Amino acid sequence: MIRHFIDIADYSSDQLRQMIQDALVMKARPASVSAKLSGMNIALLFEKPSTRTRISFEVGVNQLGATPLVLDNKGMQLGRGETVADTAKVMSRYVDAIMIRAENHDTVLELSHHASIPVINGLTNQSHPCQVMADVMTVAEKKAPDLNFAHLHIVWLGDGNNVAHSWIEAAAAFGFTLTLATPDALRPDASIVAKAKAAGGVIHLSNDPALAITDADVVVTDTWISMGASMGGAEHIDAAAHKNMLEPFRVTTQLMELAAPDAIFMHCLPVYRGNEADAEVVDGAQSVIWDEAENRLHAQKAIMCFCLDKNNAG
Ligand code: CP
Repeated sequence: MIRHFIDIADYSSDQLRQMIQDALVMKARPASVSAKLSGMNIALLFEKPSTRTRISFEVGVNQLGATPLVLDNKGMQLGRGETVADTAKVMSRYVDAIMIRAENHDTVLELSHHASIPVINGLTNQSHPCQVMADVMTVAEKKAPDLNFAHLHIVWLGDGNNVAHSWIEAAAAFGFTLTLATPDALRPDASIVAKAKAAGGVIHLSNDPALAITDADVVVTDTWISMGASMGGAEHIDAAAHKNMLEPFRVTTQLMELAAPDAIFMHCLPVYRGNEADAEVVDGAQSVIWDEAENRLHAQKAIMCFCLDKNNAG
């Protein structure tokens, strides 16, 4: 069976923990995996802009001994109406795996359905699993070196968006308690929450940021206006109304003081200081955002090796 990486919920807790363990080993001993994917070619296809995903995947592919092909849909016949199915079949004859950042989650599902090689989700309107695997790796480094997350309370403040959805799936897989404090109108997808709860996830929804953040071990937020919305795409929203709703959910220094004294602050970036978080929090002593960004590289190397069945970090 082809190992795609579309969503965290697609894999078992043991498989996901092994990926995190492999990522930690790859970070500690990068030379040990420098030929893991030797001779392979990996396509990195972008329908949306990216800094971290593009660079970390391109560097990661190189560090594993493979060759990256960075592509954008507008430079391909895909952008002129060639079907996703035909594109998947053609690319499967040339490359060993595809990472795609897509406007719509269905595009990734369709690509994976027709590809005979692994497809990795590099962000859709529904989820961002590679980001949250890097985030869980960061939590492991800071709070759970034995990969036992059961004692941790992670709190998400802001929009119940695609990244939040992957955090919800991660809560079920890794066993931490997750509270999402969002405006009522911006709650995460109820079906994703229900599925994660059915899988054993301890997930709470709140509209009270102060209550939610109290004694939190990890505080997470994200940009208030997603790329699809800011670019006038499928997720187009009334930005002013959206921002007004989210104002009480900004991670301020005052809110952060309610979290545990040793709490860490996380953000997948790009960050807009003064919107979703105060600059003092983003750049403060509790912030781990640069480690979090670096860990995209290591986590994605482990994911690629898993998908290509080369997942012993050595
Ligand atoms: N966090 C994240 O996915 O960053 P990019 O949009 O820059 O890839």
